[in-house]
Amino acid sequence: MRIVKSPTPDLFASAADRGQRTEPLAEGAAILRAFAAEDAAALMRSLREILEAASFRHMTTPGGFRMSVAMTNCGTAGWVTDRTGYRYDPMDPLSGRAWPPMPQSFRRVAATAAVAAGFAGFEPDSCLINRYDPGARLSLHQDRNERDYTAPIVSVSLGIAAVFLFGGAKRNERPKRVLLESGDVVVWGGPARLTFHGVAPLAEDNHPLTGPHRINLTFRKAL
Ligand code: SIN
Ligand code: FE2
Repeated sequence: MRIVKSPTPDLFASAADRGQRTEPLAEGAAILRAFAAEDAAALMRSLREILEAASFRHMTTPGGFRMSVAMTNCGTAGWVTDRTGYRYDPMDPLSGRAWPPMPQSFRRVAATAAVAAGFAGFEPDSCLINRYDPGARLSLHQDRNERDYTAPIVSVSLGIAAVFLFGGAKRNERPKRVLLESGDVVVWGGPARLTFHGVAPLAEDNHPLTGPHRINLTFRKAL
């Protein structure tokens, strides 16, 4: 008997295997430990190409504060903030051109992670790419600039570990603090879709994949 290897990898089988290290965070939210670990180097290679067209920049909040997290985007629309407010923009305001397209490797990890967390059919059109330098942080916020909230948020951590804050539906709920390491993926949707979340100040460290940084890919269905 000859064992014929399937010509296309079985996305769902691999998602199920890797889903064995799923940690529930809340109803509709889970951490998929090391889900993207095998893809991390390929994701970083794709990121380098994105950065040639759309480099990291520190955006300004509507209140006039410079964000400590440096950001860029890929996909049909990118999340931006400036003095006029928050929005999804089809154009990169820095270059005046469309954002770079979302690489297949990005799309695939987002879709398979969503399936593993119980959200089939996730087709992100936007990926916000965050770079945390030592001391950079993200205060508690909801992701609510998307057009509809039926799609989940899928968030991939690469490089230096960070403390992720995962609160509740109201800002004043005390958040859980969970350490996210390179390759961990957090998915929140359904009843958890508008959960307040953030990232504690990044510690100084060095990681073979990212040097002194943490990179986070946040996939959304924005439009
Ligand atoms: C975000 O909320 O946009 C990023 C979360 C993270 O960096 O883990
Ligand atoms: Fe967020």
